[in-house]
Amino acid sequence: MIGHMDNLSFITIGQAADYAGQRVRIGCWLYGKRSSGKIQFLQLRDGTGLMQGLVARQDVADDVWEAARRLTQESSLYVTGTVKEDARSVSGYELVVEAIDVIQLAEPYPITPKEHGVDFLLDHRHLWIRSPRQRAILKIRAEIIRAIRQFFDDNGFTQVDPPILTPSSCEGTTNLFHTKYFDDDAYLSQSGQLYMEAAAMALGRVYSFGPTFRAEKSKTRRHLIEFWMIEPEMAFVDHEESLRIQERFVAHVVQTVLERCGRELATIGRDVSKLEAVKAPFPRMTYDEAIEWLRGQGFDISWGDDFGAPHETAIAEQFDRPVFITHYPTGIKSFYMKPDPNRPEVVLCADLIAPEGYGEIIGGSQRIDDPKLLAERFAEHKLPEDDYRWYLDLRRYGSVPHSGFGLGLERTVAWICGLDHVRETIPFPRMLYRLYP
Ligand code: 4AD
Repeated sequence: MIGHMDNLSFITIGQAADYAGQRVRIGCWLYGKRSSGKIQFLQLRDGTGLMQGLVARQDVADDVWEAARRLTQESSLYVTGTVKEDARSVSGYELVVEAIDVIQLAEPYPITPKEHGVDFLLDHRHLWIRSPRQRAILKIRAEIIRAIRQFFDDNGFTQVDPPILTPSSCEGTTNLFHTKYFDDDAYLSQSGQLYMEAAAMALGRVYSFGPTFRAEKSKTRRHLIEFWMIEPEMAFVDHEESLRIQERFVAHVVQTVLERCGRELATIGRDVSKLEAVKAPFPRMTYDEAIEWLRGQGFDISWGDDFGAPHETAIAEQFDRPVFITHYPTGIKSFYMKPDPNRPEVVLCADLIAPEGYGEIIGGSQRIDDPKLLAERFAEHKLPEDDYRWYLDLRRYGSVPHSGFGLGLERTVAWICGLDHVRETIPFPRMLYRLYP
């Protein structure tokens, strides 16, 4: 309850079930309306749910009837009335309206039930998020974030926040966002990983969760310029154990959404049978096996090439849950990945590929813990050692085997919601050529 006055409870629509038979007041927006002549049916929404308000000509004063008649889509109002059980309505309850206080009569609303083009909708993203489908996606996103935090909080991880303004790169220099830092240069974080490695040496198991920036000139349905990444880093955890944690983690997130977001998944029309199988363990393929299988399917690809979206999709189609591709060639992966001691031409890493063509959702690896080898990699990758002195220190003062990974939130939301494009997975997407609103 928000407040109480004269026998009247100020509630949200989500609380209506607890107030059956009682007089209440609700702050809301008009989502839609129809009339049978004698009754006006107001579709009301307040962010916690939808409710129908009944305004009966014979039961209300003329000014209330008139106020209801004049309401336009997205007008804001307080309604007062009695909550009544109604099995046929969406929420199971409706409101028999006795009074309406209009806060603002909205101007003609640009987003109507007719079809709009994507550019139009993105230009009006600040309003588009009010639609039932977008609201459902944002609710599921919030639930995914909650489940992610819950998993790590319940499994002995400490949350640590790496910086967003950084002096150097983590994932190569080609897609860095540059900015001035007084007289120096700085870059927006591409990944908090290197800092999380420092934090793991202090706290054991840690995770970060924050925005990540990549000035990627790719205009695909999987790429954002600003996206959110969860990055766990674990001391004394090797590649193998890291994969076991990843599969338990992803299965936990999917199963939690299935348990808690049934209504939202139905609103967006997600085929949940596609998610029910997502339980640990996940299938695995080495990079070598993947290359051989792809060649057998007629793909023109050789050992040493990286996979593109069509390759990932073809591989993922064989499975009903995400698949790990492990042991990529050293040459196509990041400088910090630990070579396989039995086969130094490949690294102890894995990408997790989501089913149904959603592509890579996790990239992770065991990290190089040997100071000499790390120094060699710096030289090979022409990384200025001076900028990374602190990172090399981690290998000088009590270096230990450690592993970590990064899960892209928006790709995960796109997959769980079954969306064509990541642009709908984040409240205000930042994409190539789109910085508004
Ligand atoms: O594979 P990536 O580049 O891994 C890293 O950044 C590591 N440093 C993480 C770590 O080990 N701590 O990115 C990790 C994930 C990808 O699997 C993908 O889900 C997501 O981040 N991602 C993007 N999502 C949306 N738009 C983009 N441009 C993305 N680039 C990566």
